[in-house]
Order: sequence, then structure tokens, then C-alpha cells
Amino acid sequence: MKVDVLLGLQWGDEGKGKIVDVLTPKYDIIARFQGGPNAGHTLEFNGIKHVLRTIPSGIFHETSINVIGNGVVIDPVVLMAEIEALVKMGVDVKSKLLFSKKAHLILPTHRLLDAASEAAKGSGKIGSTLKGIGPTYMDKTGRNGLRLGDINSADFKEKYTALVEKHKQLLGFYNYQYNLAEVEPDWFKAIDELRTYQQIESEHYLNEALKNNKPVLAEGAQGSLLDIDFGSYPFVTSSNTICAGACTGLGIAPNRIGNVYGIFKAYCTRVGSGPFPTELHDATGDQIRNNGREFGSVTGRPRRCGWLDLPALKYAIMINGVTELMMMKADVLSDFKTIKACTHYMHEGKKIDYLPYDINPELVSPVYEDIKGWNCDLTQLHNESELPAELLDYIHFIEKHTGVPISIVSIGPDRTQTIVRS
Ligand code: GDP
Ligand code: IMO
Ligand code: MG
Repeated sequence: MKVDVLLGLQWGDEGKGKIVDVLTPKYDIIARFQGGPNAGHTLEFNGIKHVLRTIPSGIFHETSINVIGNGVVIDPVVLMAEIEALVKMGVDVKSKLLFSKKAHLILPTHRLLDAASEAAKGSGKIGSTLKGIGPTYMDKTGRNGLRLGDINSADFKEKYTALVEKHKQLLGFYNYQYNLAEVEPDWFKAIDELRTYQQIESEHYLNEALKNNKPVLAEGAQGSLLDIDFGSYPFVTSSNTICAGACTGLGIAPNRIGNVYGIFKAYCTRVGSGPFPTELHDATGDQIRNNGREFGSVTGRPRRCGWLDLPALKYAIMINGVTELMMMKADVLSDFKTIKACTHYMHEGKKIDYLPYDINPELVSPVYEDIKGWNCDLTQLHNESELPAELLDYIHFIEKHTGVPISIVSIGPDRTQTIVRS
């Protein structure tokens, strides 16, 4: 058995949570491999809308096991609030959620450092979600971090204090004002609760599951254009969001990767700073934002909106080895008579069809193709045969440019508003 990987091909918020929830009945195990509570994965079913942050999106299904892999960073306070909300909904979290001992912990001081670093950057800020993600991964690669497994050791408090002392020096460097005493008790309370959950070595657990023919789905967070290596650096997150991140973030060998499901919106959004070639600063952008309710699921920030960017999509498909595409939020474009897709960029006087090193607006301008809109409501459709001809043309147009089939078309936020193509 191989691990299928589902990940975002744009700047996050593509609808990963919805599709993981839709696909979960086919899998025994759903595993998150990177990121942390900067993610907000929305699931809608039976009139319920729920946003998950660190917990995999398979948690609502009775029989699925959900694994938080070694590549994830955990904020115990956010996690416990997340668990509490699920328990209130009747989800038996304790029996279905397993944590890698190698996952790193987000300390209260990591969050403070995130805020201090962003404040110091001024207008050059990343637009971070301020959940402490960057500083936690910095401590991981700097070999200073605390891992979940450390909470079992007798000297955990000493390890914590040693790291916090380093952080205090850094906060002093930033001249950042803070009150640690206000937040530490909740953090330690959450650590105590976390001790009552199942800890595993996810690499052993998952490879054993594969040996026993159990299907596993790896759930990505953020999107490929936010990847630390291949995203629009420095306006990225601090982990490998791409398919390779599933190998390092779970302990899965590259030759154990099976299908790679690439999720993208029928248009583009981005939240936070950084270049966005097809961004619309006009009424059309506002219309997409309003139709698609494009406001961050974690921070509530308005998402920047624009047309589909095919050079960027093709780049993400290449880096991830995408085998199937899933197009989300087609319904959001339903009231446009004409839609546009960027097929090329003008770059240094030349027309190119790939993503160059620097996609800053002064270097890159999008070249669009007009596509006739479907201009009708899609949200009540159930089968591929009901899709309007113009939407099928758009699908074929994207398939032609990318060379990858679109296997799912999403036409609304609910679990049931999902068209599976044959
Ligand atoms: P994720 O981070 O990739 O899981 O995506 P988010 O949950 O942050 O953002 C996707 C948003 O779009 C959520 O509010 C979803 O409920 C919603 N959504 C997902 N698929 C569709 C769709 O096909 N149509 C519409 N209108 N909304 C969708
Ligand atoms: P999901 O999993 C969209 C963005 C932030 C910021 C940059 C760095 O829901 O798709 P960080 O907090 O990681 O330091 O922020 O990355 N970002 C996301 N944008 N969806 C996400 O997750 C994101 N997680 C981080 O807005 O620009
Ligand atoms: Mg999201």
C-alpha cells in the first residue's frame, strides 16, 4: 500500500479540509505532515461548519485514525481548545488522535518572537498568522527545539526554562514588551492534558500500517506557493508544504508515495503579504471575495483575490508530481459572463509560460485568455452530466494547459456539493 498525498497548489485555503473529509471514507488513517495552527481547514456537513487547525480533517469519521506527524508544530493551548470543541460535538478524540513524539512544541515565547519579528519588519512584514510557526521551526532547525516526547522527561521544566531564557534575550534584542506570566499557566495546563493523549513514533506506526495494507492519506497545510523552498520567498511559511514534506514530515520513503491530489481554486487567493501576479484590485476582485466569502478562517483577514494563474499552477504540479487535480469553488465564478485565466507572463520583454525566479509586479505582468462564463447556479448539481458546457470547457482548458486530469469539481462548501468526474 502507498500513501496518497493531498495538498494545496496555490497560497493556501484551497479547500483541503473539505476534500480530505470527502475522501476519508476511503482511508484508514489521515495524517498531517507539516504546519501547525496557522492552518484553518473548514469542513461543512449536516448543517455544521467546523474549522480545524492542527487536527487532521478525518476526525469526524467514526473509524478513521488521525495522526499528527513529526513535521507538525503543536501549540498545546490551541490544540486543547480544538479538542474541547470536538469533544463537545461528541467526537471521541482520545481514541482516534495520535501524536508523533517528534513533533515540535510551540512555546508562548515563540508566539511573542513571531510578533516581535513581524513588528520589526515594518512594511516588509510577512503577514504571518502570528501563531509562532517561524520561530518554532527556527528552533527545530537550529537544534534548540522542544519536542512532544520531551514532556515525558523528568527535566522537561528545565529544558523549557533554558529555551525560554534564550528567547528572552532575543525579545530584549527586539525591545519587545511582553507579560509571560499571563500566558504560561495555560500553556502548562495544556501540556498536562496533552500527557493523557496517545504518543507514537509516526514513522513506525505508518510504515507498519502500509505493510498491513491500510490506506493512508497525508493532508497538507498551506499551499505550494507558500513552501519555504519553492514558494514566493521570503513571503512564505516555514515548512515544506510540498509533497516531499509528506516524506520528511511523516517518515515515509519517496517510493511509498502513491496518488498526489492537487487542490486549487477556480481562481486565486492569497492572505498576507507577497507578490500575486493575477491579483485584482478592482470591483471584480471584490466580487470574487464576496461571492467566495474570502476571509481567513483563522484570522478573519480579507483574502486578496485574482484570476487563475496557470504558470504558477503548472509549477506547483511539477514540484509535487500531481497525479490528479481537484478544482474548488467553481460556484464562486457563477455570476461572471466572462472569466479570465493567466496563461503566460510578460517577463523582461518576453512572453513566458513558466514561473520565473522573481514574480514581483514590476517584473511580471500576466497575459490573460478570456473564457466564456457558465453564468448559472451550480450549487444544486449532483453529476458531471449536469455541468454546463462552459464549465466543462474551462475544465478542459485547464487540463490541456496542465496535462493533468481534474477528478473532482467542488460546487459549494458542503460535503455533498462535490462532483466526482469519471
Ligand atoms: P483549506 O485551508 O484549504 O482547508 O481551506 P479553508 O477552509 O481555509 O478555505 C476554504 C473555504 O471555502 C472554506 O470556507 C470552505 O467552507 C469553502 N469552500 C470549500 N469548497 C468550496 C466550494 O466549492 N464552494 C464554495 N463556495 N466554498 C467552498
Ligand atoms: P491553510 O492550511 C493561507 C500565510 C500567512 C502568511 C504566511 C506566513 O489553511 O491553507 P505563518 O503564520 O506561517 O508564519 O504565515 O503564510 N499562511 C496561510 N495562508 N492558508 C494557510 O493555511 C496559511 N498558513 C499560513 O498568511 O502570509
Ligand atoms: Mg485555510
